[in-house]
Amino acid sequence: MAHYGYLEKLGLAFALALLFYIVKCIVNVVYTYVIGPVVNKVDFKSKGKWALVTGSTDGIGKEYAKELAARGCDIVLVSRSMDKLKATATEIQNDYKVNTKIVQADFSEEGIYDKISKEIADLEIGTLVNNVGISYSYPEYFTDIADWENTVTTMIRANMVSVTRMTGIILPDMVKRGRGVVINIGSGSSLIPSPLLTVYAACKAYVDKFSEGIDMEYNKKGIIVQCVLPGFVCSNMSGIRRASLLAPTAKTFVKSAISLVGTTSKTVGYFPHAIFVNTINSIYGMSGRFAVWLITRSMENTRRKALKKYKNKREKNIA
Ligand SMILES: NC(=O)c1ccc[n+]([C@@H]2O[C@H](COP(=O)([O-])OP(=O)(O)OC[C@H]3O[C@@H](n4cnc5c(N)ncnc54)[C@H](OP(=O)(O)O)[C@@H]3O)[C@@H](O)[C@H]2O)c1
Repeated sequence: MAHYGYLEKLGLAFALALLFYIVKCIVNVVYTYVIGPVVNKVDFKSKGKWALVTGSTDGIGKEYAKELAARGCDIVLVSRSMDKLKATATEIQNDYKVNTKIVQADFSEEGIYDKISKEIADLEIGTLVNNVGISYSYPEYFTDIADWENTVTTMIRANMVSVTRMTGIILPDMVKRGRGVVINIGSGSSLIPSPLLTVYAACKAYVDKFSEGIDMEYNKKGIIVQCVLPGFVCSNMSGIRRASLLAPTAKTFVKSAISLVGTTSKTVGYFPHAIFVNTINSIYGMSGRFAVWLITRSMENTRRKALKKYKNKREKNIA
């Protein structure tokens, strides 16, 4: 048998550890995105006749509503604009032959929850998608956020209070029935350094932690909880119109994310986003300062362009 020196043994141990790590990562990815969605497929309709989606007339929320309707659930749409609510309800009824109910509510207001609670009191809601969320109109330094008090309060209410209160309204009946699904939409911004989006990213970190705790408390009572933390997705909020590998359409994103319910309780929802988040965090791990400098520079560029656009618009309106 060959004799290895101390350094050779160390090198061999390192190579084996690296190989083990790579194999573990590959197995994890294959299980999460390929095997899990087949073996853990959730029958949403069996969790309760109705699914409720907040912020459901556009973007990611509308796609969740459509995906759940395609799986046979009746849909409660809770959103702000009545014309968009009516149009979305008609589209879903026609395309998927399910019932819909609309509830108009503005999640930037505080006193909406009694009304929502009353309107859905008689419905067996098996799936809750806490999707509504509001971000900055453009990246900005904390003290310079425009209309500071109103903007910050709106973000806190729409991103954090909504998730907490809607879960508080719907979870107790799910627990009584011993089944249900709660999907909370966070953001990848809470997983990576997010200067100039501080309040939004912090609100989404709350969604992540809240989901983790609810999962720990109610998983054993038959409730599936999943927190989805997307990267960029084409939508009004992101302002991205053209789909790419790193910024898919809301439809592509939701098709991927919903297939992971029952497999992972915390996910970015879409494989290329996992690569993006891991790359940023690897750079951050190697050199925190460089990563923060890079992201701050990119945020400042976006901020500069947005401010220039606003200035031009204001000047046009005055002229
Ligand atoms: N898009 C991304 O790149 C991205 C990335 C990470 C996380 N997310 C998260 O994904 C979720 C959905 O984002 P999105 O990009 O799909 O947004 P979106 O396309 O802008 O759609 C937002 C939806 O929420 C409704 N809404 C907005 N403000 C509301 C309010 N105050 N009260 C009630 N409803 C309101 C909108 O209805 P109205 O049109 O009537 O206002 C619309 O139906 C959010 O939680 C967001 O933080 C998005």
